[in-house]
Amino acid sequence: MSGTNVWLNLQAFDDLDVTPCLLAPSDDHSDDSSRVVWSLPYSLVLRHTTEEVLDACIEAIEPVQAAMTSHLRNQVMNDLMESLKKHSWFTGFDIADELPVRYSLEKWVELAKEVQATVFIAVHGGIGEDGTLQSLLESEGVPHTGPGEAASKTCMDKVATSLALSHLADLGVLTINKDVRRKEDLLNVPALEIWDELTSKLQCETLCVKPARDGCSTGVARLCCVEDLAVYIKALKDCLLRIPPDSFSKSHGMIEMPSPPPELLIFEPFIETDEIVVASKSVGTLGSMRSLSPSVTVKETGDILSLEEKFQGGTGINLTPPPASIVSNEALERCKQRIELIANTLRLEGFSRIDAFLNVDSGEVLIIEVNTVPGMTPSTVLIHQALAEQPPMYPHKFFRTLLDLASERII
Ligand SMILES: Nc1ncnc2c1ncn2[C@@H]1O[C@H](COP(=O)(O)OP(=O)(O)O)[C@@H](O)[C@H]1O
Ligand SMILES: [Mg+2]
Repeated sequence: MSGTNVWLNLQAFDDLDVTPCLLAPSDDHSDDSSRVVWSLPYSLVLRHTTEEVLDACIEAIEPVQAAMTSHLRNQVMNDLMESLKKHSWFTGFDIADELPVRYSLEKWVELAKEVQATVFIAVHGGIGEDGTLQSLLESEGVPHTGPGEAASKTCMDKVATSLALSHLADLGVLTINKDVRRKEDLLNVPALEIWDELTSKLQCETLCVKPARDGCSTGVARLCCVEDLAVYIKALKDCLLRIPPDSFSKSHGMIEMPSPPPELLIFEPFIETDEIVVASKSVGTLGSMRSLSPSVTVKETGDILSLEEKFQGGTGINLTPPPASIVSNEALERCKQRIELIANTLRLEGFSRIDAFLNVDSGEVLIIEVNTVPGMTPSTVLIHQALAEQPPMYPHKFFRTLLDLASERII
């Protein structure tokens, strides 16, 4: 959905030739450079999920299907022409017989180089966000949007991100202590032992558990007692696809679990807030990133935002910029300075979204994570924050700016 939105917006520019592409899921056997990329004709892009786009690609090139589609198209065209050509105003039209094209990722990067393309990356997570795609493009000198290989790699790893920022505490940028555990160890050690160890090491009463990899809030839960920990471990053991609402001692909504279950889990102190989280975008070039106006996110169901609240328009509530009754102008300015400091310390480029808790009195930020390929659908804060700029940056202009930042970059 992010990619489709970017493509539709960039179509508005006559001086750009925009080709939508789909990175197919890995089949686990192939190495990254032999992953499959499809270049897509217009008619195949407008689907709701990447799975549907992929199915449509495979169906479109299947010989019997392709011949049938072509035959039916001609028939419809002939019938239409027959009845329309009677009219004086009819000047003719053509429905192109365009097919998707399948490339290996390696070949696709070569092609991008050949046609001097700039790649607008809209692949959330996996090799689209962890530096792999960035490195393949950079090694061929193909410009791409967003941060480079090294920064992407750091931000994909919440522990590495925390470590990279841990020296900024005096400047009001705080990190959350973390302890990483292997799933196997959690399954094999008594829950009480793990609970006591974690709470004393992290010096906290309630824990936040999350998979040690990207995943749109999947598997993130608040654990308030050893029984909650035992429920979570049991869910891992049983490979549950979701933990039903109110399975833990404190009320919560449905928790989607990653599938397959994560091998590594991060435990942190659970940060109690006034039902509000800050998400702030920074935009710009290496070393001189600028913070857009932050958004506050209002939580509705329990302590952790659900997938819907984050991505689906109308379900989550974001306030951009935060009302003065919540955050003073002064605290907001200090927050933005700190967001810029974080962005430059992590060597971010282009654009990224930084999620943090904000101390509304001091403007201190407590970093949650950095997303280097943030959500780009109309219901995500990226778009709201661009619109809140003075003067407002409308989506097509904003995406164009992000593209130009990439094209102008020297790799
Ligand atoms: N330590 C914590 N204490 C309280 N809430 C947290 C904590 N860590 C994360 N959260 C909440 O859970 C959400 C998802 O966590 P995050 O680390 O961003 O995972 P993901 O990578 O799946 O988005 C955050 O946006 C925040 O609202
Ligand atoms: Mg997150």
